[in-house]
Amino acid sequence: MDNADRVLLLPYPSQGHINPMLQFGKRLAAHGLLVTLAATRFILGSSRPEPGPVRLAAISDGFDATGFDGAGSAPVYLGRFELVGSETLESLLRSEAAAGRPVRLLVFDAFLPWAGDVGRRLGAATAAFFTQSSAVDALFYHVWERRLCPPVQAAVELPGLPRLEPRDLPSYLVELVTAYPAYMDMVMNQFKCLENADEILINSFYELEPEETDFLRVACGAKTVGPTVPSKYLDDRIPFDSQYGLNLFTPAAAPCMRWLGSKRPASVVYVSFGSMAVLGPEQTAELAFGISDSGKDFLWVVRSSETGKLPRDFAEGFAERGLVVSWSPQTEVLAHPAVGCFLTHCGWNSTAEGLSLGVPMVAMPQWTDQLTNAKYVEDVWGVGVRVREDEKGLVRREEVERCVREVMEGRRREEMRMNAAKWRERAKAAVGKDGSSDKNIVALIAKYCTNT
Ligand code: UDX
Repeated sequence: MDNADRVLLLPYPSQGHINPMLQFGKRLAAHGLLVTLAATRFILGSSRPEPGPVRLAAISDGFDATGFDGAGSAPVYLGRFELVGSETLESLLRSEAAAGRPVRLLVFDAFLPWAGDVGRRLGAATAAFFTQSSAVDALFYHVWERRLCPPVQAAVELPGLPRLEPRDLPSYLVELVTAYPAYMDMVMNQFKCLENADEILINSFYELEPEETDFLRVACGAKTVGPTVPSKYLDDRIPFDSQYGLNLFTPAAAPCMRWLGSKRPASVVYVSFGSMAVLGPEQTAELAFGISDSGKDFLWVVRSSETGKLPRDFAEGFAERGLVVSWSPQTEVLAHPAVGCFLTHCGWNSTAEGLSLGVPMVAMPQWTDQLTNAKYVEDVWGVGVRVREDEKGLVRREEVERCVREVMEGRRREEMRMNAAKWRERAKAAVGKDGSSDKNIVALIAKYCTNT
């Protein structure tokens, strides 16, 4: 192992970016590479990493004690991260080289394009990892190329993409441009990687988004390497653990699995809005009553920062019918036969997990790429229904109930279940031996990591 080629991974420090990068790293490690993931000191100090084939190393974002929250704003955080992150990444690469373990390949999050400059300067091959879907990356690329000019106010028809209404576009392209210029800059700056990355990797799989991926392949040589869902569920050549392994929240694993174990097959609605989404109190209450009015059993992840918004006594009022936890072992939950529906905010990881584990969805997107993912869940992949907001922008309890019932017992239930099962098989084929993503990963290793 000591002679193995070294790969260094650098994710953006949030759960939705660490998970796919870490899983990708496990896949590289399964090919005999020595893989290290560089996380900020804050992330390392606030998580309990599980032992696994990917080692961890520290860099700094300049906010070791507080992480993002200490910065006060996205521009301050991102600016300091670039400065301090570049210095500490450089030190890490230099110390590895000095110890006789030079990093051969640096895989960095496309949200951190400066890492490509550092890697190049120190002689590593560089691969930019785009965490979001091919469709979303293609949309941002069209903005980068000035074919699409936000704020977008009418339907768009663009190469590689289906016709998209404004409600199907990433929120930055529609109404939030002025409110979130730093995030808009971040998604646009991803394309600086075209200048300093030897490879462009996309966290999706070809069969899921063929036109979108073809477009990106021709435009910038991008290759799909996903889905980056824990391999246990997709590829039995890799006997790694079922979870990702670097949780910023503590999963209530035993209670969730025990509770699910008492439920009938496909009878439970699993509800989760990922690691970042913040619903208002009124929306949280409408959601709560909609779920309960559906009459279905439910397992709902409400992060501890959000529990104060639940209607009074809500969590206690359901006896065995409902379980509310502050974090779950999500992929284990989705893989459980009792789960029949995933009510999701459509973060890209959650969407890819739902598809890869064959679970039909209710799509309730909040912001950023989630709106586009929701469009695809309903109209392109045919695995779910998307909620409709009222004129105030709220999803009312009747609508939540309608959508849950449609997925769990409606006329199209069987069709959605069959489509979900089909995507699960295609996801397995993509990462299985000689699948589309597997081939791209093998070619990447052959090109840059010569020891294997
Ligand atoms: C963010 C963005 O919101 C998302 O749109 C973008 O595509 C990636 O970064 P997040 O909002 O946290 O991520 O959502 P998501 O992409 O779904 O990632 C959440 C991850 O946390 C998933 O891998 C999910 O399995 C995991 N999770 C979530 C748990 O392990 N337990 C939970 O209870 C909830």
